[in-house]
Amino acid sequence: MSTPETATTAPAKNLSFPINFLWGTATSPTQVEGHIQNEWTDFTAQDGGNCRITCDHYHRYPEDVQWMSRLGTNAYRFGIEWGRLQSAAFAPLNQNELARYVDLLDQLKAANITPMVVLHHFSNPPWINAMGGWTNPATIPAFVDYVQKLVLALKDKVYLWNTFNEPDTYACVAYLLGGFPPQRKGQLGQFRRVIKHMASAHGQASRIIRRDGDAGRKPEVGIAKNWTFFHAYKKFSLWDRATAFVCHYTFNKFVLDAFLGGSRRNDSTFVGLNYYGRVRFHHFCAMIPASGTPVKRLKDFGFDCDDMVERYPEGLEKILTYLNRKFQLPIYITEHGAASADENFRERDLRENLTALHRSIEAGVDVRGFFYWSLMDNFEWQFGYTKKFGLLAVDFADEKLPRTMKPLAGVYEKICRENAVRP
Ligand code: FCB
Repeated sequence: MSTPETATTAPAKNLSFPINFLWGTATSPTQVEGHIQNEWTDFTAQDGGNCRITCDHYHRYPEDVQWMSRLGTNAYRFGIEWGRLQSAAFAPLNQNELARYVDLLDQLKAANITPMVVLHHFSNPPWINAMGGWTNPATIPAFVDYVQKLVLALKDKVYLWNTFNEPDTYACVAYLLGGFPPQRKGQLGQFRRVIKHMASAHGQASRIIRRDGDAGRKPEVGIAKNWTFFHAYKKFSLWDRATAFVCHYTFNKFVLDAFLGGSRRNDSTFVGLNYYGRVRFHHFCAMIPASGTPVKRLKDFGFDCDDMVERYPEGLEKILTYLNRKFQLPIYITEHGAASADENFRERDLRENLTALHRSIEAGVDVRGFFYWSLMDNFEWQFGYTKKFGLLAVDFADEKLPRTMKPLAGVYEKICRENAVRP
């Protein structure tokens, strides 16, 4: 048994964050809105759940904005569902659906909450899926047209644009692992094609956003890259090291290069980082709860895991240092969070990660915001409702879907209001 590496400890002194730092929460349409038409509508998750109603954020967003205020947050990262706004490629925007998102934006503004809009978060309109989704290059101009129209409609309300959320996760889980629709397995060529097409769409969309999106405040645009560290459990296991290297190369290096390599870096004004932790391999097996190994068993190996992956707060500092050196762009932590029923564990995880984040900022990395995943418990894709990432609990057994604050919500509120992490 190997001993766990020394974890980043929670702060011993007050850690103040820069003025104007954004403290937010994050959600995505499929996971919280309900009443959605995309490839997830008819998808049944491992727990038998589906996303048809989920948190009903579609109707309950006024209440949810109040919760955001109650939590002391000043930012909200959420997606606009493409399929609600266009019924076909190049179609005009659906004005009713647009009005609903505009109302959400107005309510956020009234509550002094800065929006960050995500344009693609693991879902496509049905007519895009029917033509092969992102494996088809014809999806690129369709997406760019959508973005062009949306930016003109929302430019005076939105300046933070996040084109693609975790293209690596999307392409991997949909085309290599078979977890997301269309549930293909081992299709490396499709994986690469999806990444290339999304990267091209990102470049074009970014140029449009920067050209047409300025209504008094310069628009900011970037992707959200999921960064997972891949390591071998035993340093001397050549096979596990090779597996880790291939994963790192495919999901981190190849994807980062596709979106930000060479002159493509100039298309983005920021790098969004979704950071959860790491995956270690043992006899080719990914030692994480998300792959089926129970948290308790992993503990015996010395692994500190939430219900998804191994926690690795010191990795946050490493990746921030790397991204800063490589791209010299401002960074937003577009997602971090932990799924667990153990609120003490989640609090420790948050403090340790924010401590690592603070150290990076002190060292000169320009990090401008942190979005907790997630505002509330929701539909966690193929896992359904079993992974509890929320600051708010949602009672899915009650048709009124009441939200209540979990202990971590109080902890986060204090951090947001004080713009500091206290010992
Ligand atoms: C990220 C996704 C988000 C949610 C969290 C837990 O990979 O962007 O939708 O699933 O993980």
